Amino acid sequence: MPHIRFGIWAPVHGNRAAAHDPLEPYDASWEHNRDTVLEAEALGYDATLVAQHTVNPHFAERDQLDSWTATAALAAVTSRIELISAIKPGLFHPVVLAKMALQIEEISGGRFGLNLVNAWNHAEFEKAGLPFPEHDARYAYGREWLSVVRRLIGGETVTHRGDHFTVDDYTLRPASRHRARPRIYLGGESEPARALAADLSDVWFINGQPLDSVEALIRDLKARPRAGAPLGFGLSAFVIARETEAEAKAEHRRLIELAEKDKPAKAIQASNTDPNVVMFQTMAQRSFVGTNGGTAAGLVGSYDQVAERIDAFSRVGVELFMLQFQPLRAEQRRFAEEIFPRFGRAANPSRPALKSEAL
Ligand SMILES: Cc1cc2nc3c(=O)[nH]c(=O)nc-3n(C[C@H](O)[C@H](O)[C@H](O)COP(=O)(O)O)c2cc1C
Repeated sequence: MPHIRFGIWAPVHGNRAAAHDPLEPYDASWEHNRDTVLEAEALGYDATLVAQHTVNPHFAERDQLDSWTATAALAAVTSRIELISAIKPGLFHPVVLAKMALQIEEISGGRFGLNLVNAWNHAEFEKAGLPFPEHDARYAYGREWLSVVRRLIGGETVTHRGDHFTVDDYTLRPASRHRARPRIYLGGESEPARALAADLSDVWFINGQPLDSVEALIRDLKARPRAGAPLGFGLSAFVIARETEAEAKAEHRRLIELAEKDKPAKAIQASNTDPNVVMFQTMAQRSFVGTNGGTAAGLVGSYDQVAERIDAFSRVGVELFMLQFQPLRAEQRRFAEEIFPRFGRAANPSRPALKSEAL
C-alpha cells in the first residue's frame, strides 16, 4: 500500500463549511487552534496546515489567527506533527521570511514546512498600500522570492541580483540541524504555479476535486523536467464520513443548507478575488462545502467508501491528505478512529518522529 499521510487544516478563521453552525460556534482563537492541533497530534495525524491571511477573507469583522506567530507557538507545544505555514511572498522580504522559517525549524526540531501561495485577495494588499501586481507578474515575483528563500533555508550563503531583490553575501544561522532544509509546499493551479512547483517545491498541493481531474493534474506535473527528488502531491479535501452513505449525505445536506447563510460573505469574497486566479475558476465549476474545493474531492460517504476514495487518490500519486471537518474536533476524532485503522494505522501517536524521515 502506498505511503499516506493525513493532515488537518488549522481553524485559523473558524469553521470551514458554514460559519453559522449550532454544532460549532465560530472560534478562531489561539487556544482553539492549539488544542485542535495538539489533539490531532495525539490522534496520530501527520501534519497541520496553517493558512495565511492578515484579515479574515470571509467576514472582515471576525477574528483571524496569524499563521507565522501561531506556527512558532505550535512548534513549541507540539512534538511530532509537521507544521506547514502558508506564505504570500508579497507580504515579507525573502531574507526575513527565511530567517523565520529556520527559526521555526529550530524550535520544532525539524518539523517545519512552508506553503507558497501567490495571493488572490487583492483587498488584503491594496488596503495596506502593498503592491498587488497582475497574476503572472505576481508569479514572476514569487519565483524570484522562492529562489532566494530556498537557498537561504538550505544554509547557503546567498548573493543575488534580480528584478526584485538584491541580496549580498547573506548566511542564516542556525541552518536546519535535522535535514537539508525545511520542506517547501506550493498551492496554485495556473501554468506559472505548476512550473514553479516542478522547479522549486517539494510537494504540490491540489484543491479538492474529482479523481479524474486530480489524476490529470498529477500526470501533467510528473511530465515536467525536474532536478532532484520526485515531486510529492498533497490534496485538500473536506470529509463527511459516517456509518452509512445515507447518514453522510444527510450531514452534507445540513452543511449545504447552513452554508446558504454565508452567501453575503461569499459575495464579498468574490469581489475581492483576482478573477485570473485559476484555482477559483476551477472551483466555480463545482458545488461543494468547505474551502479549497472541499467536498468536491468526493470524501463524503460511508467509512468504507471514504477509505476507498482515499485509496484511489493515493494510487494516482497523492501522499498527503490535508483534511477539513465540521464540527472539527468531533470529526477529526471520528476520522482517526474509523478511517486510520482502514489504512493499517491506529488512532494514536505510534508513528516515528517526522524528523527521522528524509526530506
Ligand atoms: C492547499 C492550499 C492552501 C492554500 N492556502 C492559502 C492561504 O493560506 N492563503 C491564501 O491567500 N491562499 C491560499 N491558497 C490559495 C492559492 O494559493 C492562491 O489562490 C493562488 O493565487 C492560486 O493561484 P492560481 O491557481 O492562479 O495559480 C491555498 C491553496 C491551496 C491548494
